[in-house]
Amino acid sequence: MDSIVITGGNPLCGEVRASGAKNAALPILASTILGGDCTVSNVPHVVDVRTMGRLLEILGASVKQEGDHVSINADRLLSTEAPYELVKTMRASVLVLGPLLARWGEATVSLPGGCAIGSRPVNLHLAGLAKLGAEISIEHGYIKAKAQKLRGTRIYCDAPTVTGTENLMMAACVAEGITVIENAAKEPEIVDLAEFLVKRGARIVGAGTDIITVEGVAALHGADHRIIPDRIEVGTYLIAGAITGGEVRVEGCRPDHLEAVLIKLRESGLDVAEDRDSVSVKAGRRPHGIDVRTCPYPGFPTDMQAQMVALMSVAQGTSVITETVFESRFIHVEELRRMGANIRVEGNRAVVTGRERLTGAPVMASDLRASAGLVLAGLAAEGVTEVSRVYHLDRGYERMEEKLRCLGAVIERKKTGMDGVGARKGTC
Ligand code: UD1
Repeated sequence: MDSIVITGGNPLCGEVRASGAKNAALPILASTILGGDCTVSNVPHVVDVRTMGRLLEILGASVKQEGDHVSINADRLLSTEAPYELVKTMRASVLVLGPLLARWGEATVSLPGGCAIGSRPVNLHLAGLAKLGAEISIEHGYIKAKAQKLRGTRIYCDAPTVTGTENLMMAACVAEGITVIENAAKEPEIVDLAEFLVKRGARIVGAGTDIITVEGVAALHGADHRIIPDRIEVGTYLIAGAITGGEVRVEGCRPDHLEAVLIKLRESGLDVAEDRDSVSVKAGRRPHGIDVRTCPYPGFPTDMQAQMVALMSVAQGTSVITETVFESRFIHVEELRRMGANIRVEGNRAVVTGRERLTGAPVMASDLRASAGLVLAGLAAEGVTEVSRVYHLDRGYERMEEKLRCLGAVIERKKTGMDGVGARKGTC
């Protein structure tokens, strides 16, 4: 298992370019199952995207990658089964369920199990597909879904689920009649998926609001599409600048996708400047403690919570960070404490009393965004921090060490032998 070794304490300064959004790339790639020759660009080189590519190949699709372009044709499918071996490494594999069922009338997808950050059921995906007319059962750890033809209907989601909304929107594209998804999630990645589907002939209105209406068409054709920048990666690099007392500018991003994060960074006293496609943060002095509550978009993203806890660990004063999206997403707190952070967890709240300095320590990553929080803490800490199990980080951050080195970080990867993908357990 590789680890990342950081010698902290350097203010990070300079510019870095945003990669494409992993959470947009995954549903967009899964949607190619609905047919046609598709070329997707700005696809990030991260393990989760490779896993989705492998899954599409297992299903029989042709997948060709050249740089950040991926060309896919899924018009000849060999299988409609997403196997346990892949789904256990990446929960988002469940995104093939909707398109497989809608196009081929059946899908067998390993039921994603528990996860480090909460129980994460897929009941709303299944309830929505059942409302569209699918027959669904769970057999031997697999979701089995069947439908001669899906029929449009009104679906109310009990919670705004991101991948659930994506699965239902994809399935509804080729269902008979009109589907209305109420209490839909509003994340920019859903809008990106909808734009790609519309280019391919789908009729979708309302993506980005909590009511999405889809009028089914007979079939989709192919299209080219460029994926939106990764707002979570952008936020992570901004905090890298903030936490080290430096000045970082992220190019090629969409500041409008980061409103809640930018508001909170400003509230903590940081100097944040935005342009049409770039955003920068300048830390003149230590940030002060602020309260943050994670919420579905456009609220503060749960995927930025660990990074914010790391920042608040070195802020002046006390902060309360409340996690409302996932039930046990504070595993990074124990590790941050090993670096001297003063954090108390009370239910779904982390009460953080900032310290002037953290001290480097060996720490262990538990999930993707927790790993990012630990790397950020390591960049700010005095001395050496070794973050182990960085395969979590590789799932969602493209060339992270290289990008941080460009900003002046002293960071390197330590290769400590093999860890088969099959042994890894994915989270978000
Ligand atoms: C997606 C993101 C993940 C992010 C999360 C929340 C991808 C690939 N992953 O995950 O990075 O952290 O959104 O922004 O886009 N829920 C149910 N039943 C369901 C589905 C969800 O109860 O069927 C609950 C979950 O337990 C959670 C909440 O709804 O409490 C939101 O989860 P959801 O939006 O579905 O997260 P994901 O789509 O898995």
